[in-house]
Amino acid sequence: MCQILLHTHLHYDQSRKLFKVQARILQENEEKVVVEDSFQPKSSPEVDGSGSDREPPDGSSSSGIERWVIKLEQSINILLTDSVIKILDTLYHDRDYARFFVLETIARVPYFAFMSVLHMYESFGWWRRADYLKVHFAESWNEMHHLLIMEELGGNAWWFDRFLSQHIAVFYYFMAAFMYLLSPRMAYHFSECVEHHAFETYDKFINAKGEDLKKLPASKVAIKYYTEGDMYLFDEFQTSRAPNTRRPVIDNLYDVFVNIRDDEAEHCKTMKACQTPGNLRSPHSGFDNAFEDDAGCILPDTSCEGIVDCIKKSVTRDTSSVN
Ligand SMILES: [Fe+2]
Ligand SMILES: [Fe+2]
Repeated sequence: MCQILLHTHLHYDQSRKLFKVQARILQENEEKVVVEDSFQPKSSPEVDGSGSDREPPDGSSSSGIERWVIKLEQSINILLTDSVIKILDTLYHDRDYARFFVLETIARVPYFAFMSVLHMYESFGWWRRADYLKVHFAESWNEMHHLLIMEELGGNAWWFDRFLSQHIAVFYYFMAAFMYLLSPRMAYHFSECVEHHAFETYDKFINAKGEDLKKLPASKVAIKYYTEGDMYLFDEFQTSRAPNTRRPVIDNLYDVFVNIRDDEAEHCKTMKACQTPGNLRSPHSGFDNAFEDDAGCILPDTSCEGIVDCIKKSVTRDTSSVN
């Protein structure tokens, strides 16, 4: 056990050194870095429709059960998201900003649910996950700005759209919280599906209306959020890149939508990373805040990742003790 901890610590120290060197190089070239990195929704099987399809680490009988459970969780998620997408396609095929307003109202909700459950676990004294709380708050902050942009563009003008989106959001909150209690892996996969849909929706819109959008002025909220003030929270939700490596240039409405789309790609990657327990690190952890460099988000071996994981572990523990 000590060897494993020592190895993990050494590995993490090396990663931090590499991370710092890489970040320093990127900061020196900061003005050149304005392009999104290689998120490929169509070519990447990891985010292609079915979302991530993780294989269990070993070939034991428990891994067979786990594989079956993962398939079941992902099938339910895909069925649910496809059903909601069909309804939205029917209602909003000719009203883009209203559709985006509804999507963004719903988009923040799972992050509220994850934070609620994590706070509850912390209140019970079960475990602490500082990085998860920080990153999920930064994700909700980013989605809130998408929502403010859509409101500025008039997406919330109709009473029906506000009524529908807010009622879906309340239902979705309780569903996401229950799913997160049951299986964080399933809840994160569901969010990955939703973020993937958001990416595709904005991508199609940009391809269809790009030339018109280039002639329209940028949203004031977008200029403030993407280019002014403290960018800590903007960097915080992008867990697959070092801080200060993405600084958008916002000249017109096209730039606004390109950056919203790219944000959705970052959410997608973060949600995928979360499906592996203990995998998520704040981009700022171990970078400029040494006091946050603790084992706060590493679970002890005896803990469970939700109710499904607790049942699986108790079943496999019983089986191994019988053998
Ligand atoms: Fe969004
Ligand atoms: Fe999103």
